Order: sequence, then structure tokens, then C-alpha cells
Amino acid sequence: MSKVPEEGGCPKDNFHLKPPTGTKRRTWGLVVTGVVGGSLLAVYAVTTPFITPALRRVCLPFVPATSTQIENVLKMLHSRSGSVVDIGSGDGRIVIAAAKEGFQAVGFELNPWLVWYSRYRAWREGVHHNTSFFMLDLWKVSFSQYTNVVIFGVPQMMLPLEKKLQTELQDNTRVIACRFPFPHWIPNHSTGEGVDTVWIYDSQTFKKANRECLKPTKGHAVGH
Ligand SMILES: C[S@@+](CC[C@H](N)C(=O)[O-])C[C@H]1O[C@@H](n2cnc3c(N)ncnc32)[C@H](O)[C@@H]1O
Repeated sequence: MSKVPEEGGCPKDNFHLKPPTGTKRRTWGLVVTGVVGGSLLAVYAVTTPFITPALRRVCLPFVPATSTQIENVLKMLHSRSGSVVDIGSGDGRIVIAAAKEGFQAVGFELNPWLVWYSRYRAWREGVHHNTSFFMLDLWKVSFSQYTNVVIFGVPQMMLPLEKKLQTELQDNTRVIACRFPFPHWIPNHSTGEGVDTVWIYDSQTFKKANRECLKPTKGHAVGH
């Protein structure tokens, strides 16, 4: 005799029935797909910000400064005051080192993971009150308000950056270039060796040189 379903739809005995093996397999399939898909998505989200710099017009990848490089930067900040900005601040190590020396230190960085990590590091090292990290493109912000500008860039960006800083910076600014110097500016000083070399450029010097360059030379009348 066949069972008549009780109110609610299911025969009582169905509670003791095992799910058919097909359903079990489908559930496992869904779990595996979810785990694999989720993991791939997480890997994609984490790695993309590190890979995309290679696709930009100026490829500026994340290469952290060495401790000697940081020491050299700090040496060049000796006797300076005010603010420090690191253009492309990576994991925040230069910003944090400058903050520990008492500077109000700021980092601009495109990679969101590095920005969040820098904020966490600054908090852990007790300098969150005098550090700020912005997730912004260095080509789209002005650095005119800073008294010390640090850049650890790549050779192909140094010329456009030189032009940008030449027009933006005020007269009392010091620019510190790590590993790669600017192409036209004459450094006021340099320290370190090889990959740890840093050069300093005082804006008064490069602005004066630029004004002299633009002056009409004797014998060449202006307006002709
Ligand atoms: C060579 S690393 C230097 C990191 C850090 N300044 C240091 O010395 O440890 C350059 C950094 O610039 C970042 N970057 C690349 N393009 C950028 C852009 N357009 N605006 C802001 N940051 C950028 C990269 O993500 C990378 O972290």
C-alpha cells in the first residue's frame, strides 16, 4: 500500500532517507567551485595592484628601499624641518622613518594593499598621529605644500617628474632622489654608493638655474 503524504507534503519515512548520491555530489561540486572560485578571486584582488604598474605608461613597480637607502635619506633630512612626502610610498617605510625623526610625513601610493599596510605599520610603530597615506596617483596631485620630497622612482619617470616638480615646488623645498638621479638638475649633494645612492636638490638652486636658462642671452633681442 502506498504511503499518503501527511499535511505539509512529505511522508514521515522520508526523514530517514539518505539523499541520493547525485545530490551529494552536486553539493560537493558547489563547495569545491565556491572554494576554488573564491581563492582565485582573492589571489586576483591581491596581485592585480602589484602587476598593473607594469601596464602603465611609466612602469613603477614596488621595490622597497633598503635600510642603507633609508639611512641615507634620513642623513639628507638632517637639519631640515617641516613636512616630508614620499612619492610612491610603497609599504610606508620611508614615511615611517621620517615620522620617527619628528617630521609630519605623508605618502602617496596607488596600490590599496600597500596603503592599508602602511597605515597599519604606522599605527603599530606609534607614529600614526604624524603620518598620512593617500591612495592617489602621483601624476595627479600637486606637491607644492611639502618642504621635503622623496622619490625612489625609475629612470623613465625622472624627466617628466623633474618638469612637474620644477613648476610646482616652492623656493625652500629639498628634493631627495633615491637610486636614480634627475636628468637635468645639478645635485647640491649626494651620499651613499651604488643602489643606495641618494641625491639632494634644493629648489632654490634648480629654480635659479632654470631662470638663467630662460634669460635671453646678450645679442639676442627678445620679440624677434
Ligand atoms: C620603487 S617603489 C618605492 C617604494 C618606497 N618609496 C620605498 O622607497 O620603499 C615605487 C612605488 O610607487 C608606487 N606607484 C607606482 N605608480 C604610482 C603612481 N602613479 N602614483 C602613486 N604611486 C605609484 C608603486 O606601487 C610602488 O609602491
